Amino acid sequence: MFDIDHLDSHALAALLEWQRDMGVTEAVGETPVDRYAHAAEAQARRAEAAAAAPGLAQIEPKRRPPPPPKPVEVDTAAEAARAVAGLATLEALAQALEAFEHCELKRGARNFVFSDGRAGARVMVLGEAPGRDEDLQGKPFVGRAGQLLDRMFAAIGLSRDAPAAEGALYIANVLPWRPPGNRTPEPSEVAMMRPFVEAHVRLADPDVLVVMGNTPMQAVLGRTGILAARGTWAEAWGKPVLPMTHPSYLLRTPAAKREAWADLLALKARLEQA
Ligand code: URA
Repeated sequence: MFDIDHLDSHALAALLEWQRDMGVTEAVGETPVDRYAHAAEAQARRAEAAAAAPGLAQIEPKRRPPPPPKPVEVDTAAEAARAVAGLATLEALAQALEAFEHCELKRGARNFVFSDGRAGARVMVLGEAPGRDEDLQGKPFVGRAGQLLDRMFAAIGLSRDAPAAEGALYIANVLPWRPPGNRTPEPSEVAMMRPFVEAHVRLADPDVLVVMGNTPMQAVLGRTGILAARGTWAEAWGKPVLPMTHPSYLLRTPAAKREAWADLLALKARLEQA
């Protein structure tokens, strides 16, 4: 016998060729395999299993289930833009927003919180989202932060229940449903709400829009960084926009109230000019 492990590739190829010429069509091992005995053993094992669990013997081997269909990706901002197209009144906007099904926050909120104050007011204030008190009452800015907001604007002669547009405020949030645990809204939630915010500003038609905190600044101006941007006038949708720090931040950081006061005076001056 030759030692096959020591043949080079040419010799191996020649050997294969010779086998093919001799009519070899199948490779078999050196020791014979008794396939009848194998089949008998397998049958005996199946019979044993069937005796131990008779029900299972009937069950056919399972086919692999087809993969679940891929979830259809919805462009929620495009859906929101469709929902507000052609709306002509704040009432119609409120209805369209309340009926919007693509924001998961809706499922966990107690109430839909649309706005408060006077439609037609010269100043519109935009906050982030309802907190616990707002969720319970269905009105924006009614908790501690809201009470501070009322005092701040009252100091420059503006209030949500002023009888005339001149001294009135109109108040809304980027999100009309409370995020669980008052968490900061996700960028995707803000982007989804942007068409509603734009329609809200268009229909409320204030002379000036005040964005309080990073979330409304992101929704209106497309950027964050409220501590650097506060007090600097910007523009969106043809309206002057004043970024200010959020009253919740002012409750936590009383030292920042001095800057907020400067921003309120800038707002007052702007209203007096126009
Ligand atoms: N904070 C907000 O941004 N909005 C509210 O309505 C209440 C608290």
